[in-house]
Amino acid sequence: MQSSENRSVLMGQFMYAESVPLSIFGMANTTWTRRHILSLADFTPLEYDTVLQTATSFREVLSRRTKKVPTLQGQVVTNLFFEPSTRTRSSFELAAKRLSADILNFAPGTSSLSKGETILDTAKTYLAMGTDLMVIRHREAGVPQAIAREMDRLGVRVGVLNAGDGQHEHPSQALLDLFTICTLIDPDDPRLALLKDKKIAIVGDILHSRVARSNIWSLTASGAEVHLAGPPTLLPKLFEEFVGRQEAGARDWGLGARKEEEERGKIGERSQEPEFKTQNSELRTQNSLLPRKLFLHWSLEPAIKDADFVMTLRLQKERMTNHLLPSLREYHQQFGITRDRLKLCKPDVKVLHPGPVNRGVEISSDLMDDPQFSLISQQVTSGVAVRMALLYLMCSGKG
Ligand code: CP
Repeated sequence: MQSSENRSVLMGQFMYAESVPLSIFGMANTTWTRRHILSLADFTPLEYDTVLQTATSFREVLSRRTKKVPTLQGQVVTNLFFEPSTRTRSSFELAAKRLSADILNFAPGTSSLSKGETILDTAKTYLAMGTDLMVIRHREAGVPQAIAREMDRLGVRVGVLNAGDGQHEHPSQALLDLFTICTLIDPDDPRLALLKDKKIAIVGDILHSRVARSNIWSLTASGAEVHLAGPPTLLPKLFEEFVGRQEAGARDWGLGARKEEEERGKIGERSQEPEFKTQNSELRTQNSLLPRKLFLHWSLEPAIKDADFVMTLRLQKERMTNHLLPSLREYHQQFGITRDRLKLCKPDVKVLHPGPVNRGVEISSDLMDDPQFSLISQQVTSGVAVRMALLYLMCSGKG
């Protein structure tokens, strides 16, 4: 079948995800094999591009008058959010509804957790109701992985998606950030290679941020230079070795398909290293022929100088138990992103923030609302198309 015909079948009336090869997206000889999405540490360039292309197709669906397709009709998606969320929970719910899946929303406050039921037994209860995909957020790292392991042990064909686990990872947030950035550069053909040699600063509370960790994987996989900036208490020197150490650790989770990518090396050559790079900041990984380019700064200016994109992160006050900052005012003075500070960046610089935002702390309130610079609302919009793509791909990749 021709690619265009297949694409219309995807969006048409009788499409069921299991039967659709990814060749419909022009990705011949490739099928999505990853049942769970728990981390981006072992994502391949091909997988990133598959997500970006699939999200582009669903973005087109979302631009129609009728924004719903029957792609996941008959499938059950369960949102298991043990920690508060506005964006992630709602956009997974909307994504599932746009795909015609049935959606169950677990609310811890009104659940049987308060009667002593365990998290695993809660997951198994939803499994017994016929859940096909579980979207899981928990304040402790490793909970989605534990549930995925249990599903695999039981031999059931249920996909688990990590919607944020403690300080570990938030893969769907990083994928929607990637989609937002890539579609700004090429709206019709967003792909990983577009970011090669771009300078991207990630600023703020890196220590507590699962968003930063997932973004480090995706953005360094593209060949972009990723510059982390924050006070030493929120950006420990250990992050210099983050990619190397965590990649070894990520394999220990033992979950998710790890494919050898013939695609490696297609992205291009490495760029000149900047003068201010710290020791051990470049680490060649198993996942790409490109060296991952990661730089640390304990002041803002070198990180954002000539940057193409600045991603600022929420100060996670709820996770700060050790008085890590003198005051929010001083933090804003040193690391807050303002219009004035953006003059150091490229003239067409764009600012991202995963939300929720502490207005006037990590970013000035006027800048946050300025569409010339701020991509914050585009990030939220991208979230629905990207999450539709992830739900679709996980269903198609259940093996
Ligand atoms: N970015 C993000 O995860 O936001 P929520 O906590 O509102 O889901």
